[in-house]
Amino acid sequence: MNVLVTGSSRGLGKSIILEYAKNGYDIVINHNNSHEEALKLKDYVESTYKVRALVIRCDISKENEIDDMIEEIYKKFGHLDILVNNASIALDQDFELKTKKDFMKTLEINLVGTYLLSKKIGIKMLEAKKGNIINISSTNGIETTYPESIDYDASKAGIISLTHNFANYFAPYIRVNTICPGWINTDMNKNLDEDFINKETSKILLNRFAEPQEIANLAYFLGTDKASYINDSIIRIDGGIKR
Ligand SMILES: NC(=O)c1ccc[n+]([C@@H]2O[C@H](COP(=O)([O-])OP(=O)(O)OC[C@H]3O[C@@H](n4cnc5c(N)ncnc54)[C@H](OP(=O)(O)O)[C@@H]3O)[C@@H](O)[C@H]2O)c1
Repeated sequence: MNVLVTGSSRGLGKSIILEYAKNGYDIVINHNNSHEEALKLKDYVESTYKVRALVIRCDISKENEIDDMIEEIYKKFGHLDILVNNASIALDQDFELKTKKDFMKTLEINLVGTYLLSKKIGIKMLEAKKGNIINISSTNGIETTYPESIDYDASKAGIISLTHNFANYFAPYIRVNTICPGWINTDMNKNLDEDFINKETSKILLNRFAEPQEIANLAYFLGTDKASYINDSIIRIDGGIKR
């Protein structure tokens, strides 16, 4: 069994890769900028878990790079069992200063990248009559709070819509599900100021941000047969929000 996780040399993607590798899956580590981290992760999983690991640089907003990545995976692994669409950016900026260019950049990576990968790999999975697609959206895709992330929120809401169309088109062979995490302790939040973090933490029933491993546990579970009847679902994992 094997898995491609986009944006997986660091953050949540890395935790998801480690969880699959720990359970014996061959893995594809995709990155855009973090090449050193990707190579270190490859060495680590190969030596620790004795699985095969590919490292592929691909900017998922570029269709030709996606095509090259898919070709390389199928050439080296012959097939793909699981796609995890994890890579994304969040450009938090003043609402009035955000430009069309900013908005489009976020959509191209977060939404269009997810669309192209799911469509192209999903068609191959459909030919094989088996496969599994797991998307990482966000609670921001369900409810929006801060206009600074208007583009990010739209991209994450779009992923929820893609989930339903792909689950429908690829049925009954491919399960397609989406995870909507709340706050996670990753680099994405490293520039948040302490007061803001405290304010957001106070809204969470568990009174803390998630560790990436806690989201990776769910991303792994959805890829296994234990989740065999979970399909077309939007699953929220946010520690409980005070209402
Ligand atoms: N952190 C949170 O609080 C939170 C909450 C809800 C949902 N999420 C979602 O969880 C997922 C993982 O987030 P994270 O917190 O781990 O983010 P992160 O620490 O900022 O990591 C982002 C990852 O995406 C990759 N990436 C960005 N642009 C890319 C591109 N054009 N092509 C390929 N890869 C690209 C990065 O790779 P390089 O370093 O190689 O560029 C990196 O591996 C995202 O979908 C995010 O929206 C996060």
